[in-house]
Amino acid sequence: MNFLPSGISFVLSLFICWFTSRVGSSWWYMGRPTLGSQVMCDNIPGLVNKQRQLCHQHPNMMQSIGVGITEWIRECQHQFQHHRWNCNTMARDHTLFGRVLLRSSREAAFVYAISSAGVVYSLTRACSQGELESCSCDPKKKGSSRDSKGTFDWGGCSDNIDYGIQFAQAFVDARERKERDARALMNLHNNRAGRKAVKRFLKLECKCHGVSGSCTVRTCWLAMADFRKTGDYLRRKYNGAIQVVMNQYGTGFTVAYKKFKKPTKNDLVYFENSPDYCIRDHEAGSLGTAGRICNLTSRGVDSCEVMCCGRGYDTASVSRMTQCECKFHWCCAVHCKDCHEVVDVQTCKALKNTDWLDQT
Ligand SMILES: *[C@@H]1O[C@H](CO)[C@@H](O)[C@H](O)[C@H]1NC(C)=O
Repeated sequence: MNFLPSGISFVLSLFICWFTSRVGSSWWYMGRPTLGSQVMCDNIPGLVNKQRQLCHQHPNMMQSIGVGITEWIRECQHQFQHHRWNCNTMARDHTLFGRVLLRSSREAAFVYAISSAGVVYSLTRACSQGELESCSCDPKKKGSSRDSKGTFDWGGCSDNIDYGIQFAQAFVDARERKERDARALMNLHNNRAGRKAVKRFLKLECKCHGVSGSCTVRTCWLAMADFRKTGDYLRRKYNGAIQVVMNQYGTGFTVAYKKFKKPTKNDLVYFENSPDYCIRDHEAGSLGTAGRICNLTSRGVDSCEVMCCGRGYDTASVSRMTQCECKFHWCCAVHCKDCHEVVDVQTCKALKNTDWLDQT
């Protein structure tokens, strides 16, 4: 943009700022530790009015959502650690993920889904732990019921996931409900897929009572599985995400290519192909893969060939501490020595300036 007169540049960047805050989904910013434990509803940039209102009404819930943000970001980064796009967040950027999610890509679909799943998860957990005034364990799980093993009594604390889902929907979807353009519909669809994903991994846990553990009486409760299960599931949904276009009435989606199956409510949907994330590209929000660690023996996406996009890699010897010569002592301890181990680590080369000139 250097060749543009500064006036036009300025107007353009104003436009970009406005656009960024439009799809930046800024409730994500609540996870920033700079906000501390004190949630300041009026100081979180980019909340829409409805969100601000909910924030004032339920400060403790905002606290839980804020804690949850760190967790779903960590899960996202775990799922994509060996990928060119690795769910990296940007320091001091209130959109959290930078410009990368401006594109209506598969990655954007995943982030919206896992973030809304994360809100369901953290709110439901906080309800069960008695941290919130407005909710507690599921009051509907009373009396007795039956499963494949027979009848059981509801007992203990069943996770009140319907409450978590309801509040997550009201809070997270508030922004998209204001807009109603194609991208808003995409976000709403993926937000819902994320909420449903958490519910899928509710499981019945039981305790046996009766003479010498004979299990004549069972007490059971519904509990959410570890968030990793939701992460793994959404990651599979990312792999099978369906590219769509708006239907002719602008009310829903149809598949972009006839050979694809129609998306269900559980599928992730996206409009645009992803950039290759190979080189640093500010406009596309891509950090590039220069300096990323790659795996010399892998044949997958973390291989040096794929990760470095054919640019090659550097090898460095890195020394690290490991536990070695472990001995078992009767009884019962294991003692190890600390050993130095030197391993080779491969990192992707940057694009050479001359390569860049060749390409343009
Ligand atoms: C590299 O890839 C191979 C083959 O997939 C795998 O067995 C190995 O654990 C990987 N190494 C690292 C450091 O991730």
